[in-house]
Amino acid sequence: MSNQNNAFKSVMYIAILFSILVVLVVAFALFKGHTATVTEDPDAAERIRPSAAFIKMDNKAPAVAEGAATEESATETAPKDPASIYASACYICHDTGVAGAPRKGDKEAWSSRVTTGMDALYRSAMNGKGAMPPRGNTTGISDDELKAVVDYLVNAD
Ligand code: HEC
Repeated sequence: MSNQNNAFKSVMYIAILFSILVVLVVAFALFKGHTATVTEDPDAAERIRPSAAFIKMDNKAPAVAEGAATEESATETAPKDPASIYASACYICHDTGVAGAPRKGDKEAWSSRVTTGMDALYRSAMNGKGAMPPRGNTTGISDDELKAVVDYLVNAD
């Protein structure tokens, strides 16, 4: 009887040890998977590793991960159309005319500026002019995108 009992205990221990091993292997795999995506800053990877792994082990993880991935690719590939760049970066000055900014739709204000040529306007948009900050304080938009916003702003009704 006691032999049977011991045998039963051994099986239990083995089962427990085995499940711990499985958890460790899974956790290790998740850690590795995660650090593989965060390579730029080793310190940051170190700092966020435990909590990120914890989130991944949560059963909601696939949804979270998918959401994050979609968001990332959306910011990378989203077409930055002039109207939305204007609405997020330029309208604050060019809708109100603050600090003497020529207002969107103010044909008169723009016509005198357009006479200097669109290239001059592109250049001031890129480099700034008076109270106009370089690139309208935007980051992450290309020169062509910025020029398209200038076109949009200058030609707006
Ligand atoms: C902080 C306020 C501010 C923001 C934000 C801003 N502008 Fe301006 N902008 C001005 C002011 C003020 C002027 C007039 C500068 C002058 O003529 O001295 C101006 C002038 C311009 C001009 C005419 C330049 C010229 O040579 O006559 C263009 C084009 C222009 N802005 C485009 C943009 C675009 C595109 C954005 C957004 C990406 C933007 N601005 C964001 C304030 C701003």
